[in-house]
Amino acid sequence: MNTKQAFDRLDLRKALGSFGTGVTIVTAKSSDNRLVGVTANSFSSVSLEPAIVLWSLQKNSPSLSAYDDCGRFVINVLSLEQIGHSRRFSSQVPEKFQGIDYHLGLAGLPVLEGCAATFECLTVQRLDVGDHILYLGQVEAYQHQEHSALIYVQGKYARSASAELQAA
Ligand SMILES: Cc1cc2nc3c(=O)[nH]c(=O)nc-3n(C[C@H](O)[C@H](O)[C@H](O)COP(=O)(O)O)c2cc1C
Repeated sequence: MNTKQAFDRLDLRKALGSFGTGVTIVTAKSSDNRLVGVTANSFSSVSLEPAIVLWSLQKNSPSLSAYDDCGRFVINVLSLEQIGHSRRFSSQVPEKFQGIDYHLGLAGLPVLEGCAATFECLTVQRLDVGDHILYLGQVEAYQHQEHSALIYVQGKYARSASAELQAA
């Protein structure tokens, strides 16, 4: 893609950040069996039948080759109590999984405990889009629990206000 437009990067990020999302940690395993995980709010559902989801990763991520080589990923949708997980997996700490509860799911990929939902996916398409790589994954297994989901909007963490809105 070669579309050039002189937008102010920070201002564009601010505008895009008006769109509230949940927060996920996308996990995988490198070819030398190192566990990787990145905080990502680019996650979106795409198709129900078949069940397809997407997320995107910045090309300069040191974890990129692990997601490419693995050919699979797990979307871990964070619950309200997991802000600490979000901060940890969006940082550069060397041992991101230290002190994190998880079990190994399909193909030995880490599935985090205490999430609102998890989706274990097989990568079915990888698209080179601007400064990111877009991964589309077919969901092979999933689980969900009645935990309140963590929200991210306008550059800040938030909680869902659905109860208050319904009451109004
Ligand atoms: C709420 C939130 C959402 C994020 N979403 C993404 C995303 O969708 N894609 C991405 O590449 N980075 C995203 N990031 C930034 C990465 O989490 C961060 O760059 C992290 O260091 C990546 O790990 P790495 O150093 O292993 O690449 C997000 C960060 C935060 C706090």
